Amino acid sequence: MKILGIETSCDETAAAVIEDGSKILSNVIVSQIDIFAEYGGVIPEIAARSHLEAILPVIHKALNAANLDWSNLDAIAVTHTPGLMGSLLIGTLTARTFAILKNKPLYAVHHLKSHIYANWLEEDSTKTSTTLSKDLAQIDQNQSPKNEQNSTPASSPKPTFPLLALVVSGGHTQIIYMQAHNHFEIIGTTRDDAVGECFDKVAKILGLPYPGGPAVSACAKTGDSSKYHLPHPKVDYLDFSFSGLKTAVLRAVQSELGLSIKTPSYELKNHLSEQQQADFAASFQETACDILIEKLQAALTDHPDIKSIVLAGGVSANQILRQKALATFSKNYQVFFPAPKFSGDNGAMVAAATYFEITNGVKPINPYTLSIAPRTPIE
Ligand code: KG4
Ligand code: ZN
Repeated sequence: MKILGIETSCDETAAAVIEDGSKILSNVIVSQIDIFAEYGGVIPEIAARSHLEAILPVIHKALNAANLDWSNLDAIAVTHTPGLMGSLLIGTLTARTFAILKNKPLYAVHHLKSHIYANWLEEDSTKTSTTLSKDLAQIDQNQSPKNEQNSTPASSPKPTFPLLALVVSGGHTQIIYMQAHNHFEIIGTTRDDAVGECFDKVAKILGLPYPGGPAVSACAKTGDSSKYHLPHPKVDYLDFSFSGLKTAVLRAVQSELGLSIKTPSYELKNHLSEQQQADFAASFQETACDILIEKLQAALTDHPDIKSIVLAGGVSANQILRQKALATFSKNYQVFFPAPKFSGDNGAMVAAATYFEITNGVKPINPYTLSIAPRTPIE
């Protein structure tokens, strides 16, 4: 079954064609990172406008790279929640239009489900992935060679149920229990900031560029993670809180520099040495990852039936988090994380999630009535 997955929930315009939930026939991503690096964060109106410019060339490229036309596709899948309203609108309106024009079944997918199902995608060593920024002209010219998808590697092991998914992104931090495909129970969630948001805010305090996660992670490489002691928040059982950690970093930086707590965060970067910046990045990253791992450990105590642990979402690209997860859990559990290019937002995971919805009895949605929502819990 070949599914076109479309993703526009935030600042990536993405489309991919996936066969049977895991085989990557094409994967195209146009990132708006270059645009928003100048602003230090996403501006929703600009994101929506950029999606509008990119969406048709991206879909066209995804079909071409897969050597398919519309007649070979079995379904169209699109992210409809959660996300930025204007951004979601561009993807869903495009998907609805094609579903009607090309007479294809349409599926609407929750963004966090898609992140989890990125773990079913095969490692893509086939050059079928294209990540582009800004230069849309390149998309039309850059047709992929005809035989690309023939070199897909042998199938890799897949997560088994019951599993715990740690979903860590710019907007969410959740532990989700999955008894089987398509059964989601949120057993822990953040009370305030998401962990990715915390990485982004700490990056700003340290004077590192947007997006903060990769920047903090790169800067931390030359830092001492035990240099600054940062607190672990006290929150009820499996829930998280990251706003206190961000403030703790702010106060620790001010104190280290001998500055008043009234000193605005945007001024601190002018006083930090490179080594201090790296030490703060490393200490923060270590603490944030430890908090995530501790909560997963607590969740496992409650769920002795768990077989697999699955990391998902943008923050799951973090190498320290991956190392800690492997070191802590791999003796007793299967541990999965997506290939780095599938940790962030992409269309492949949307198509993968939809395959497992279809094969578990979910019916298509009416393309005339599909609506979007900025925040809806996974269910
Ligand atoms: O899943 P995602 O691409 O978009 C959302 O659904 O939010 O996640 C984006 C988040 C951002 O906060 C970004 O800073 C963070 O993921 N991120 C990372 C890393 N790469 C991306 N955080 C920590 N370490 C990374 N290597
Ligand atoms: Zn995401």
